[in-house]
Parts: sequence; structure tokens; C-alpha cells
Amino acid sequence: MSTPDSSPLHGLPSLAGLTTFAEAQKPGLSVAECVRRLKRHHYAFRRLHEIFLARLTAEPLYELKMAFSLHAHYCAEHVAALRQRVGEMREPPLGLDLVPDESLAVFFAEILAAPTTEELLAGIYEKAVPALIAALERHQRETNPLADQPSVRVMKFALLELREMAEYGAKAVTAVRKESAQGSTEWFALLDDCLAAARGLDGTGTSVSKALTRRYSAAPFTYDKIPRRDARFPDPYNMGVNAEAFIYDASQPPEPKVLMMFFKRLREIDVPEMMASIITETKGKPWGYYRDMTRQLWDEARHAMMGEVGFVSLGVVWTKVMVNFTWSLGLNSQLTTKERHGVLYFIEQGLMPKSGKRFEWETAQAAHNALSALFQDYDWADEVLHARVGRDWYVSQFESPKEAVEWGDRAWSKVLSGWRQWRDEGLTTHRNWWPDVYLDYCRAQNLAPDENVLAFATTYETQRADLQTLASSA
Ligand SMILES: [Fe+2]
Ligand SMILES: [Fe+2]
Repeated sequence: MSTPDSSPLHGLPSLAGLTTFAEAQKPGLSVAECVRRLKRHHYAFRRLHEIFLARLTAEPLYELKMAFSLHAHYCAEHVAALRQRVGEMREPPLGLDLVPDESLAVFFAEILAAPTTEELLAGIYEKAVPALIAALERHQRETNPLADQPSVRVMKFALLELREMAEYGAKAVTAVRKESAQGSTEWFALLDDCLAAARGLDGTGTSVSKALTRRYSAAPFTYDKIPRRDARFPDPYNMGVNAEAFIYDASQPPEPKVLMMFFKRLREIDVPEMMASIITETKGKPWGYYRDMTRQLWDEARHAMMGEVGFVSLGVVWTKVMVNFTWSLGLNSQLTTKERHGVLYFIEQGLMPKSGKRFEWETAQAAHNALSALFQDYDWADEVLHARVGRDWYVSQFESPKEAVEWGDRAWSKVLSGWRQWRDEGLTTHRNWWPDVYLDYCRAQNLAPDENVLAFATTYETQRADLQTLASSA
């Protein structure tokens, strides 16, 4: 039976609940205009992803390293979604690697090269992110919500995370600004001029001819892959407590092993520091590479924060633990990108057998620490994903998986531990911080210290983290 008018039957929501009849009839944007804008959104996310990772390693503030990891992951995911959407719109060749506007290129190059954390944060969170939010909101508003629903959907999810980034960024900018002088007003005006010359991030604004004089990007950007840490990491060369030697010592009880595992997790700050350098220095891969590697980088940042939360849960101040950066420093300064990836893969595939992630999870369970068991459960699941990422993007470069593993092992052996050298140069005394931290833990938990635990004093002088003996020349 036909209805007398075009109203939906029984008062059901029309048009799948997407929109109204009036909205669905608006002229909206042509496919060509929609694609043109999507390419600009894509370019912005891509450049933001690049900036977060290129600035992560040398950024000293721990909290910012973590936020950059998350925001790079968000950007990588939205780049992937936008690329897919552009590919659906009659577009080959896609031209997704082209710069849509030279002024936009200057805009992002300036932020990438911002000389201070304060300016970097302001450039990202006060200029780029709000401009991208405005561009996506305008696109959503102007496009036909029925004809272009797949784009609207992609932008809806992108906006969710962009707004979260903006909210974080506003707080971060305020926090960092308290610490230092007011940023360069002229430079902020230059960023505004770049956007104006590009007719807005989406290219829909009115044309203004602006002569842009590059400031921080006048010279080519020099990438800094040397890790830096803030004041809460006073002894970054300290290799005085061999966490693995303690955890795999069957004579030690499980409860303090949980404390040591929280240290191991927190120490994973060095994985994003190292992975950011691989991603930044590896050019020309398919986007799937950058997306997967960035996801893994973010997982490692999560693992570090699980460690941080673990210390809070035990009532132990984590800054009393000497969280070193020797691994990211050694890999970033001594190995090629392929070798760095090889070491990462070698370590991660070694975590899969019985002695690795399962053992850590079982140790947490044996200690009846529900939080540690939960974290180790997810840490283990993440590692399985990372082994897959390694197979797809690292092992695939070799004749056989065996060769890939051996190559990674050799690369790791090439990075001299420098244990004695750092001590002799006065960079560290490799102080054994374990007894102090263990006693803090006992006090916080109202436990009597165990003499055998307290006496633990194995360093990394002769043993690598996988418990292999180091060559004595190190
Ligand atoms: Fe991890
Ligand atoms: Fe991992």
C-alpha cells in the first residue's frame, strides 16, 4: 500500500536518521570539491603526525612525549581513513603525496622547526589543530549529508579526537607558558599569514597575497634523534639495577618482582624515543607502515604509563627509580634505521616464548597484584600485535625469519653497552637504587623487608637485558 505523501510510515525516522529532507536537498559540494578539501585535511594530519614524531625524542618533558605518542597515533589513523576515502572517489592517480599549497607547507615547516617547546606547543595546539577543526566543521556543514555521508563519517571520528587534542593542548600550552617567557608574537603572526595565504587550511577563504618570510624554517630542518629527559631523570646513564636478572631469579619472591616489572614498564619511555627516530628517518613507505609503526609506538608509551600508574598504586615515588635512556641513545646514535628495527624485532620476538610476557603475567598473578596482572595481560596482547607488525615491515625485508632475527641480534651486539665508559667519564656511578626503592615500597605497604630482596645488586655491567653475556670489551 502506498502512502498518501512522502512522510515515512508510522512516523519512523526518515533517511536512516542521518538528516532532514531539507538538508538532504542542499547543493552541497561536488565530488571534485570534496576531494580537494579531503586532500588538504589529509595533508594537515600527515604533517602533524610528522611533527609529533620528529619532536618526541629530543623533547625532555616526559608527559609531552606521552601526549605526542598518542596524538601521532590519532593522526596516523585519520590519515589512513582519509586516504581510503579519497581512493573511493574516482580519483586515481590519488596525488596524496603532493603538497596542496606552498603556504601550508611553510606553515607546517615553521611549526616543525619551532626552537622551543613553548612555541612548538602553541604552533600545534593553538594554530594547526584549531585550523584543522574549523576546516572539518566547515566541510561537514557544507557537504550534502546524504550524498557524501562516508566523508562525513570519517570527519566525525576525526573531530572527536581533534577536539580531545585541542583540549589537552590548551592545558599543555598554559602549563608550559608559566615556566618560560611569552612566545614570539611575530612568529604567531607569520603562522596566521601562512594560513591566510593558503586561503585557510581548506582553501575556501578569500584570496590574499601575503609575502611570507620564513623564520624558523629558513634553513633546512635538522632532525635531533638524541633522547632528552626532564629533571625527574637525574641519572639517565644508570645501568645499576638489572631488572631482568631479578625477575628471572627463582629464589626471589613474586611481590617485589611486581615493583621491578613496574620499573620495566616505565623504562619503556625509551621505545617511543627510539621508534620515533625509525619512523622519522624512514621515507617513502606505504602509509600502512607509518600507521602500524605509530600504533606500536603509542602502545609502548602506554606501557610506560602503566608503569607510572603501577608506582602510584604501590605508593612509591617513581622519580626515585633511575629510569635510564641508554637503549634509545645507543640505538639512535649508533645504528641505522633498519638495524634499530632489527633490534626491536629481535627483542620482541624473544618476549613471546614461555619465559617472556607469559612469565611476567604469571608473576603478577602469583603476587596477587590485580593491577599488575591486568597490565601484563594487555602488555602481552600488545606484544603479539607488535610481533605481527615486525613480521610485516621488518622480517619481510629478509630471505627468512631466521635471518631477520639473527641480523637483529647482531645489530644489538654492535651497540656497546658503554657501562664502564659512562662510569669512567663521570656520567653515572651506576648507583644501586634498588634497596632505597624497595624499602619505600615496604614502608608504603607495611611489610617487613626481605633480606634477600634487599641484597639484590646485579647490574647491567656484564649482562644484556635478555640475560646474554656481553663481550667484556664493552
Ligand atoms: Fe612494550
Ligand atoms: Fe612492544
